[in-house]
This record gives sequence, structure tokens and C-alpha cells, in this order.
Amino acid sequence: MPKIVLKGITKRFGKSVAVDNLDLTIEDGAFVTLLGPSGCGKTTTLRMIAGLETPTEGEIYIGDNLVFSSEKGVDVSADKRNIGFLFQNYALWPHMTVRKNITFGLENLKWSKAEINRRLDELLVQMHIEEYADRYPSELSGGQQQRVAIARTLASKPALLLMDEPLSNLDAKLRLDMRAELKKLHAETGSTFVYVTHDQQEAMSLSTKVCLLRNGLLQQYSAPLEIYGRPANVFTADFVGSPSINLVDMDVSGMSGDGIGLKNGSCSIVFHPEKTADVSAGRKVVLGIRPEMIRISDSGRAHAVIDSSLPYGMETVLCLKLGDIQLLVVVFGSIDFQKGSSESIEMTGNGICLFDKESGKLLSVGSAEFV
Ligand SMILES: Nc1ncnc2c1ncn2[C@@H]1O[C@H](COP(=O)(O)OP(=O)(O)OP(=O)(O)O)[C@@H](O)[C@H]1O
Ligand SMILES: [Mg+2]
Repeated sequence: MPKIVLKGITKRFGKSVAVDNLDLTIEDGAFVTLLGPSGCGKTTTLRMIAGLETPTEGEIYIGDNLVFSSEKGVDVSADKRNIGFLFQNYALWPHMTVRKNITFGLENLKWSKAEINRRLDELLVQMHIEEYADRYPSELSGGQQQRVAIARTLASKPALLLMDEPLSNLDAKLRLDMRAELKKLHAETGSTFVYVTHDQQEAMSLSTKVCLLRNGLLQQYSAPLEIYGRPANVFTADFVGSPSINLVDMDVSGMSGDGIGLKNGSCSIVFHPEKTADVSAGRKVVLGIRPEMIRISDSGRAHAVIDSSLPYGMETVLCLKLGDIQLLVVVFGSIDFQKGSSESIEMTGNGICLFDKESGKLLSVGSAEFV
């Protein structure tokens, strides 16, 4: 299985920079997602790996092979990179049956009849499409077509599979099913998957590592839970997690014992960094508190008013007002709250993030308390 290395990859379209000096190593057998808002350069990055787009600068290695180098004038064509590619708008051949759609490429690769049939049977079972083998694409639902498209891409057992939003035109329920299917598929095949999505939940739940991009610039490249718990900056923190993280502007008021005193209006907080953090009084910071890190509790020292309550059954999402500060809070369990009622709250755990306001960068994670 190949490892993919991108070194200083830049792609310019005229004057605009789609991908900006990207360094990225995708380990052998990994499931990496390229995540970020629309236009951040995900598709462009994937197409450069595939050989469908020529970088302006940089080098790309697949396994031990240099497949692109602007400096050395190397550019291995897409069909010689042994890559499977699944586009957002996969097109099945309308005049071919499912069976033929899947096997067509293998015939071109001169596989023997016996090998092709064996592989076809395997794929039909794996993708749960046995009963549709003799149908034409127009006789299938969108989700069934999608599975055929995946089977077709997997047919030749590509060691590297690139997918660009392959689930985007499925309904919510099927999307969830297919996510689980893809994760299983990744485990079974052991292939390297590179997967583009702008859906943070999809990225978080599927991948071994998330590559988060913004305006062509790498923001963070870490395991999903690392991105969630230790976001490199405010953008990253805000992009993952639903409901999203609470980002509260605060001023550093001074040191308070082993903690850092923070203030916003009448709200005072002491933040305890896990390691000493160098922040002096007067500095502007942003405190990042995930909605599940605020607890309603009789022992809570702060008093907030319920602005709205959205009970989903398994959990309830509350919008609280703490003076001028708005806070989203998730309470687990089937509970509803009364709008306008006052509740005592406290912060829990060691996962509260302190960011520098100006640069947006993470200064420290730690615990915090209202005082
Ligand atoms: N062929 C092209 N010519 C000019 N600009 C392009 C071209 N392809 C992409 N771009 C620009 O490059 C930037 C990155 O585009 P890209 O398609 O990689 O974004 P993306 O992250 O895949 O977005 P989306 O989530 O909307 O698919 C965008 O600003 C886009 O307008
Ligand atoms: Mg795209």
C-alpha cells in the first residue's frame, strides 16, 4: 500500500491561489478526509494527487515513486498512478447493466473471465447489490446507483482510492448507512482512502486523520478527536462539533493563584491551564467551551437564564444567557426546560480551550470555573 507525500504543493489559477504551499503525508492504509468550507481547495488537492490537475509548484510522491515535480519536470499521467477515483457526480454507463458497469474496466485491463466473475460476485455481495446485477442504472434508486459506482471503482482493487463527496446526493438515512459501509470497506480492503467532504460529522466519524483547509491553507492535520479536543485555532474549533463550540471573548484580568483570571462584563472566570501559559493582564483572549462542558448543577456558581430549549429526545440543546453572553449547552437525557427560568451552571472537564484573540491560535487547554 502506498504512502502519499505532498511537498510544498501550490496550485494557482491565474492570480488566485487554490492550494497554498501544502505539506501533507498520508500514511499507508489511512483514511484521510480533506475537510473545509466550499472553495477551500479540497477537490483541487484530490485532483492533483490523482494527476488530473497539474500543481503550479511542489512535489508529489505515491509510494516510492515521484509522480510529480515542478522542478524536475516529472508528471506521471493519471492512468499510470494506479488510483481509483470516485467523483461527486459519478456517471454509470446508462446502456450497460450493473454487471457490465462493474466488469467493463476489468475487461479493458485484460483480466481473465474467471477472475472477473469471481471479483464481480465478491463486489455484488460486499455492496449488497446482488439482486440488481442485471438491471440498468435507470432502474435503480440513487443510493443503489451510488453503490454500483463504488463497486466499479473498487473492482480493480486500487491500492489508493480517492473520493470526492461520494455520498452528497444521498438522503440522510442512506448517507448514514453508506458511511458505516465505507468505514467497513476501508477496514476490509486495507487500501488508503482519501476522502473529500465539507461535512464535519462525516469527516470526524470516518477518518483516521482529518486535514482541515481554509482558503487553500492547512489549518490542522490530526486525528478527529485531537481536532475536537485540541483545535489548533479558533477556526478549527468552530468548524468541528455540532452544536458548535461556545467562543467567548474575554480580557485577561491577572493571575489568580495557579489560574488566569478572565473577565467579560460581570462574568468572571478562572482558567487553569494544563501547563503554564504565558498570558499577561490586558491580553484579549477567546475562551472555547464545548456545549457538553457546561453543566446545570445546584452547586454551579453562575446563574444563567434559559433563552430556548430544544429537546431532541436523546439530548436537549439549551441556549442560555449569562448576562450578555450567549451559551449553547447540551444536556443528555429526555428533559425539557422552561424558557425564562434561571439555572445554576458550572464548567466541567479539562477540555476548555484558551485562544489568543488576535492570532486565533490555541494558547492552552485546561479547566475553568466561574467565580
Ligand atoms: N479550473 C479552475 N479555474 C479557476 N479557478 C478554479 C478552478 N478550479 C477551482 N478553482 C478555484 O479554486 C478554489 C478551490 O476550488 P476547489 O474546487 O478545490 O474547492 P472545494 O474545496 O472542492 O470546494 P467545494 O466544497 O465547493 O467543492 C476555488 O476558489 C475555485 O473557484
Ligand atoms: Mg469540491
